Amino acid sequence: MKASIISTAILATAASAAPALVKRQSSDIDGVILNYALTLEHLEATFYREAIAKFSEQDFAAAGFNSTNFYKNLQEIARDEQTHVDFLTAALLKAGVTPVQECTYDFGTLTPQSIMATASLVEGLGVSAYLGAAALITNKDYLTAAGSILTVEARHDSFIRGNLDMSPFPQPFDVPLDFDQVYSLAATLIKSCPASNPTLPVKAFPSLSLASNMTMPIMQGEFITFELAADMKVPAGPLFVAFPLATGTMFSSAIVKDCMITARVPVSFYGPAGESFAILTTNDTVVTDDNTVAGPAVVEIQTYLA
Ligand SMILES: *[C@@H]1O[C@H](CO)[C@@H](O)[C@H](O)[C@H]1NC(C)=O
Ligand SMILES: *[C@@H]1O[C@H](CO)[C@@H](O)[C@H](O)[C@H]1NC(C)=O
Ligand SMILES: *[C@@H]1O[C@H](CO)[C@@H](O)[C@H](O)[C@H]1NC(C)=O
Repeated sequence: MKASIISTAILATAASAAPALVKRQSSDIDGVILNYALTLEHLEATFYREAIAKFSEQDFAAAGFNSTNFYKNLQEIARDEQTHVDFLTAALLKAGVTPVQECTYDFGTLTPQSIMATASLVEGLGVSAYLGAAALITNKDYLTAAGSILTVEARHDSFIRGNLDMSPFPQPFDVPLDFDQVYSLAATLIKSCPASNPTLPVKAFPSLSLASNMTMPIMQGEFITFELAADMKVPAGPLFVAFPLATGTMFSSAIVKDCMITARVPVSFYGPAGESFAILTTNDTVVTDDNTVAGPAVVEIQTYLA
């Protein structure tokens, strides 16, 4: 996570503004949610545009991504994301809300492998973002529109995961994440946004990274070690690692040693499995933005069933 991101204008109202979201006029909430979705769609559209511009069908095939119609499908994903951008932009303009514009991003050094890894991250994040926002949308037409985007993002995710030889649908329920949780992960890819963009009530939590000795996937029941920023002040008292699930978040006690956090991955048929999220909290029954210490971290978990 880049420190500069946390201090940029888009986050200025951050922490204090978040609760206000649900108290505002309903049309305001929907505008905020659509702009939040548009922020993610811009990120995805730019990412795939750059990926396709940089590498040809032959480049991906040479890297092992040579399944039937692989590149055509990747191009279709790029078109879908741009279409989502255009659709949300038009919907916001129609509602009299200023749509956010594209930011500048840092996707790291692009290779076919890194593109697929990042694609898997952003598609899974998109699914969790739409799922988490769904309950807050007040206009039923917007809800249907958001739902129809969500299902397509989920199919993109399955396609990408399948081509990475990972289970395309690793668990029976997908995981909803809230604005700040999603933004914390998206912000790792955002360098800066136009000052003219409407301010969104989102903030990024301190980062929780996988320790350098961790290799993914990890099995349920195994211990996983995370690393906090070296200068991070860890709160006193017991800490927990939360694994959010649609069926009820599961918690593990965190073993804290300096800036290293170790916890056991919970075992459950309902997950965590596949692209999963781990959040360091001070509470072992509920995760809120207020009791979040750091994260989410993205963890790839393999079930015994897979
Ligand atoms: C596709 O890639 C795999 C892995 O690199 C390779 O074993 C296989 O021969 C390739 N297939 C074709 C049709 O090029
Ligand atoms: C990874 O490193 C941490 C210490 O930094 C250690 O506690 C943990 O046991 C290690 N895990 C593995 C799987 O090597
Ligand atoms: C977690 O939050 C719940 C609900 O706010 C509270 O009842 C409980 O005491 C908290 N637990 C800890 C360990 O802080």
